[in-house]
Amino acid sequence: MQKKTFRFGSSSTDYYFAGGISHLKEIVDQKNAVIITDENVFAAHEKRFKNWNTIVLKAGEQYKIQSTVDVVIEQLIELGVDRKWTLIGIGGGVITDLTGYIASVFLRGIRFGFVPTTLLALVDASIGGKNGIDVGVYKNMVGTIRQPSFILHDLIFLNTLPEKEWRNGFAEIIKHACIKDAAMFDELESKDLNYYHRKKKEVCALIQRNALIKTKVVQEDELESGERRLLNFGHTLGHAVENQYQLMHGEAVAVGIGFAAKLSERILKFKNAERIDAVLSQYGLPCAATYDKDKVFAVLKGDRKKEKDFIHFILLERIGKGTIRPISLDDLYEYL
Ligand SMILES: NC(=O)c1ccc[n+]([C@@H]2O[C@H](COP(=O)([O-])OP(=O)(O)OC[C@H]3O[C@@H](n4cnc5c(N)ncnc54)[C@H](O)[C@@H]3O)[C@@H](O)[C@H]2O)c1
Ligand SMILES: [Zn+2]
Repeated sequence: MQKKTFRFGSSSTDYYFAGGISHLKEIVDQKNAVIITDENVFAAHEKRFKNWNTIVLKAGEQYKIQSTVDVVIEQLIELGVDRKWTLIGIGGGVITDLTGYIASVFLRGIRFGFVPTTLLALVDASIGGKNGIDVGVYKNMVGTIRQPSFILHDLIFLNTLPEKEWRNGFAEIIKHACIKDAAMFDELESKDLNYYHRKKKEVCALIQRNALIKTKVVQEDELESGERRLLNFGHTLGHAVENQYQLMHGEAVAVGIGFAAKLSERILKFKNAERIDAVLSQYGLPCAATYDKDKVFAVLKGDRKKEKDFIHFILLERIGKGTIRPISLDDLYEYL
């Protein structure tokens, strides 16, 4: 099985892009491993979990919380898991975030790896070592940065992925194209969601390309002091509208991308906001939404990336070139 190893500051991760889950037993000792997954993935792929110790969690962001961690840890103790064992998260970003977090704190840290099963987890959540849980309304409030020891792709899981989850994944793919990869943007522009739905080989190449974009950004800045902040493109306004208007994460990010592109036109003489809007719609995503300006501004003011009177905003100099700029809160209010 082909393996590529990527070094991060303090550790490294083996990527098995064309792995196939049947090869999992070559990477971990089946007897000393526990799979953590959710009920949807388990129900749709039960036979793939045969002969593995498996903990099946309820699906959904609302379970990415401490009480789930507690329940899993009790089960790990019951199974007799010790420091030689490996935890394997097989699922979307909720499962990979939870698994990485549990493996980081249990026995002060045991080995873990991921088999991401959503497009979003394949290109984004499984990569970069951020893991954690939500606390009340605060997303990802508690967590660690610790890289998985492996990431294995098996795109057979995508056969059962609901349509709306494809759109969620494409929001992050379009984000990567905007900030880092003009050629990929052109490719996305010439295709649409339907195309990638049908074309296995092309979607596989697209996933790998995106996994590598995120990997490279994280390698340069694991602890998010600079470059990694670019990955927040579309997410500042995105997060502010996400909860308030019951949008899917991908839709909210798309609205944030649309806004950031228009802001880039005003501030940086960026020229291609219309092209970005068009690409978003080709992938079933909105580029704008009506929202209550004051409510959204109130959330933006509380953003973690805020400093005194300004906020670090990710803008575009051109397609494929993201940049971090401070924007005063007063200006931001006006632009909203
Ligand atoms: N750690 C990071 O760097 C990072 C980055 C981005 C997002 N995230 C986190 O990722 C989470 C979102 O991830 P997500 O969008 O994958 O959500 P998710 O894990 O909730 O998965 C979405 C839905 O798809 C189902 N599902 C997953 N794989 C499936 C498959 N193959 N077939 C059928 N159904 C399947 C799940 O059960 C769930 O209902 C958020 O909690 C977010 O904070 C983390
Ligand atoms: Zn996102």
